[in-house]
Amino acid sequence: MQAQVEALPSQQLVSLTGLFLITEDGLSVASHVAAALQQKGATTAILNSSTLAEPEKLEQAIAQLRQLHGSVTGIIHLAPLAALELPETLAGWRQITQIHCKSLFQLLHLCAADLQQAGQQQMGCVVAASLLGGYFGRQGQGGSGLPTGGSNTGFLKTLVTEWPGVRAKAIDFDNSLSPVSIAEQIVKELLSSGRLEVGYPQGQRTIFQTVTAKLARENQPAPLTPTRDWVVLVTGGARGITAEIVNDLAQSGLKLVITGRAAEPVAETTDTAGIEDITVLRRVLLQRARTQGLTPTPIQIERQLQGLLRDRAIANNLQQFRQAGAQVEYVAVDVRNAEEFGAAINSIYTRYGRLDAVIHGAGIIEDKLIADKNFASLERVFDTKADSTFLLYRYLRPESLKLLVLFSSVAGRYGNRGQSDYAAANEVMNRFAWHMDCSWSNTRVVAINWGPWDTTGMASEEVKRQFRERGIVPIPLSAGRHFFLEELHYGRKGETEIVAGEGPWEAYEANLNSLKGIGEQGAESKKQIRANAPYLLLPSAPQLQPNGTVTLEHTFSLATDPYLQDHRLDGKPVLPAAGALEWFGEFVQSAWPEWQVSEVCQLRVLRGLVLDTEAGKKVLFKARASSHADSESLQVAAEIVDPERNIPFYRASVILRPQWSEPPTSEILPLSSGEKLQPAVAYDTYLFHGQRFQLITAIDRLNDAGIDAQVMPSRPTAWLNSQPIANWLFDPGLIDVAPQLAIVWARVQRGTTALPARFGSVKRYGQSMPNGQLRIAFRVNHFDDHSLNYDAVFIDENGYVRFHLKDIESTCNTALNRLASHL
Ligand SMILES: NC(=O)c1ccc[n+]([C@@H]2O[C@H](COP(=O)([O-])OP(=O)(O)OC[C@H]3O[C@@H](n4cnc5c(N)ncnc54)[C@H](OP(=O)(O)O)[C@@H]3O)[C@@H](O)[C@H]2O)c1
Repeated sequence: MQAQVEALPSQQLVSLTGLFLITEDGLSVASHVAAALQQKGATTAILNSSTLAEPEKLEQAIAQLRQLHGSVTGIIHLAPLAALELPETLAGWRQITQIHCKSLFQLLHLCAADLQQAGQQQMGCVVAASLLGGYFGRQGQGGSGLPTGGSNTGFLKTLVTEWPGVRAKAIDFDNSLSPVSIAEQIVKELLSSGRLEVGYPQGQRTIFQTVTAKLARENQPAPLTPTRDWVVLVTGGARGITAEIVNDLAQSGLKLVITGRAAEPVAETTDTAGIEDITVLRRVLLQRARTQGLTPTPIQIERQLQGLLRDRAIANNLQQFRQAGAQVEYVAVDVRNAEEFGAAINSIYTRYGRLDAVIHGAGIIEDKLIADKNFASLERVFDTKADSTFLLYRYLRPESLKLLVLFSSVAGRYGNRGQSDYAAANEVMNRFAWHMDCSWSNTRVVAINWGPWDTTGMASEEVKRQFRERGIVPIPLSAGRHFFLEELHYGRKGETEIVAGEGPWEAYEANLNSLKGIGEQGAESKKQIRANAPYLLLPSAPQLQPNGTVTLEHTFSLATDPYLQDHRLDGKPVLPAAGALEWFGEFVQSAWPEWQVSEVCQLRVLRGLVLDTEAGKKVLFKARASSHADSESLQVAAEIVDPERNIPFYRASVILRPQWSEPPTSEILPLSSGEKLQPAVAYDTYLFHGQRFQLITAIDRLNDAGIDAQVMPSRPTAWLNSQPIANWLFDPGLIDVAPQLAIVWARVQRGTTALPARFGSVKRYGQSMPNGQLRIAFRVNHFDDHSLNYDAVFIDENGYVRFHLKDIESTCNTALNRLASHL
């Protein structure tokens, strides 16, 4: 990171509005900031340290202030602006991380809706300050604040990726400016554009650019060469990317102490040993449970499988290190626990009399947007890195330690959507690395900010996809290992904050906070929402409008939607209700990718969407999240309208949840008796559906109470005349079988045709789509001359419910019997 002096960019805001929450600092800057903000038109409230120290108290205070003054437009987090010594105990450190770091997360989380709303008017701002010497602890200029101030950059760089329109600044100071001058700079930065990360060493406005730096190897002796007598501690070293690196270190004689949370694995049982195929392993685990008289859910089997794979990885890695000749000890400790971790480190010194190098790889992720993340999850992710780094600082003996490597992440250095806690923790680690490197003269301390690794470790496909979109190339295994070895041999003391991996880091950082100026809204200010996965039906990504509505334009035609060919009423292609259901599902899922579409409720057919012209039918999809979202569910109201006349065709309410719902086992008994009917007869005599929709494979029983039938899922390739790039969310062909059975039942039992008018609820279960035959239990709730109300349950071959349709209403009319003759 290269410091560069840069003048303050142009001012963008001239006046402020709404409530600004300011956290109390240790230099008395807060009151000056409050006065300056009030002059600009804002209402202000200062939250004192005792309130910040207790999460419940802070939550209450925010609720009261919002009730008193209305919604929050800005947050000015000054708490880390305090000259402090690092505490002696973990309890002391945790008090400080609550006030400096976690309180900022709470403020953002609790004011998320207000700030996002303010962001849409380009008025929302979050500014956070630290006292790390103006260079964020770099260049030997530690300042008198604590590394906890680093969490500001992690939180804020993530925030701007999640809340478009909210401006954010993380500003670092030294002790050269008076409290009044610091307040002045904070307010000037808040009103101006420019980079998110800004420092004021000696009052000089400074930015930090990522620059390429070659290792000095030519004609230079390697500064550090690990020798066989070294004792090395590796946290998280039995798995993932850290284990890959240890593979290159392990050599005869080296003493390796490896830690992890899991207990050291025992030998694998014979029924699974040697099986590599995941599908076979799943089957064996299921079989094992069944022979024990258990009926496990798929998620329980998945957990067992993940545990087995983790234990295998640990066992294999430890064996490899030993085979390389290293003397290996595995210790199960939680690195957040002072007693356990402290005792493990002390025991190394007691038993070996030395500890030469530490590689700190322990870390976890639990990705969620700031608005959706809960405090307990934040603590797990944050503490795993921040507390463990503090404990290393307290327990290591720097006089004999040669090397400390902290595994940090580009998610911290540059922010990453959904990873606010992880980013904040990595940035605390980066600042701590500088603090230790400056204070420990015998030790090289380096924080490697890894980009995502390609084939191993914690980076999920989604995280890698997000990085790829930013032009960041996942690191191949061999390249990651090579990078570490080079850094180990040729890196020098003082080269403390390093980015590893290919990416346009500097260009990304330079644009991170780029906002359009006030008054530049309109077409330009529409933000394109990046869909996190390809969707079968969507022609493009939805757009977020300045008023918060998500929209998507589409023209239905036989070219774009060839499946309509096979769904004709009186000869004209018509979008079926089950088709509208899939469209709603995909549209809403792509706009809220961090949630899972779980259910579509009250889907109403208001007007037939008929292709009656060659030009096709232009429509506008619209969606808006309900303001009553909680961490368990989010409700989105969606409709498909005629854009010219603003008349709706379909309307529905889509329910999203944090995770897909586990499939329950079916309790439904088959009908006790009933007529058999050949599907071909049903399609020839009663239905009007063409080839793609003909998915009923058997009608086993039909009586007054309903129908038992069998169906196959539809094939996207046949439906769309193209190679599928994804799978359905609901499968419109499959779901359409329920209204088809309604027609068959109404014709056979009552001589009338029933067309769908409303789907009360359609709920999907399981992460993936079923791909084999399913049973359908179609049960009539009510019938009169004009309407038929029914439920339908789709059950897979293992007896799990995959779709549950409840309270489905069809309108009946004998005149509609004509539709079947149009085939
Ligand atoms: N993989 C990447 O692409 C990537 C990119 C950037 C940075 N990093 C960083 O590199 C490090 C390793 O990542 P990875 O991908 O190899 O992760 P991983 O495969 O998930 O392994 C994480 C390791 O950390 C251990 N661990 C987690 N929480 C712990 C706790 N509270 N106490 C003790 N040990 C704990 C785990 O122990 P158990 O085995 O017992 O669970 C495991 O050994 C992390 O710090 C991560 O932030 C990774």
